[in-house]
Amino acid sequence: MSDRPQPLFITFEGIDGAGKSTHIATLAERLRDQGRAVTVTREPGGTALAEALRESLLRTSMDALTEALLVFAARRDHLRHVIEPALAAGQVVLCDRFTDATFAYQGYGRGFDLDVLRTLERWVQSGPAGWRQPDLTLWFDVPPEVAAARLAQSRAPDRFEAQPQAFFERVAAGYAARAAEAPQRIVRIDARAEVSAVWQQVEAACRARGVLP
Ligand code: TYD
Repeated sequence: MSDRPQPLFITFEGIDGAGKSTHIATLAERLRDQGRAVTVTREPGGTALAEALRESLLRTSMDALTEALLVFAARRDHLRHVIEPALAAGQVVLCDRFTDATFAYQGYGRGFDLDVLRTLERWVQSGPAGWRQPDLTLWFDVPPEVAAARLAQSRAPDRFEAQPQAFFERVAAGYAARAAEAPQRIVRIDARAEVSAVWQQVEAACRARGVLP
């Protein structure tokens, strides 16, 4: 038996303003305290090409098919150059958003064909190790009006953040639908609470999976 640590791919999801960033940083710190090597990354992004695509996605108006192709192109590059090599080295990968965001935003939010997204998901996430999916997804669920109030206090909105509340209602419904399809993988976190109470749920979910002791 090898004493090499189990690689782990954990993703963080939720509508804009759900408050996942703080918890990604805290979890990374806790894992490093346990002696784990951790890669923290995000989507769209994580490589030079994917970050360039992110800039276009967040700033330039385009149709939903173009959007879907760009997020999946960014994802392919990210998987090949960052996520797969880190997992192969036995690291924990914490990724701020992944394919559930594409289903929620491009699928449910923009109304793009879910079957096409499912095909792209299979193509893009296939590799030598089979079909890559996160081992665990923490879904920060918060009502759109609460998220909007949080965002209003922070910064100038990007192209997605500037969408009306009805868009975020659809995106939230998209996350709920994905969670219902993959209940073993996706854990719902009630993100309405204050930061410490949300962290307790994150910690409990990680303990239940053996991610934290
Ligand atoms: P986000 O991850 O919230 O970063 P920040 O906290 O810096 O704003 O922003 C990324 C945006 O991209 C977010 O509005 C959701 C959107 N997005 C999609 O529309 N589809 C996708 O597949 C992904 C990964 C993100």
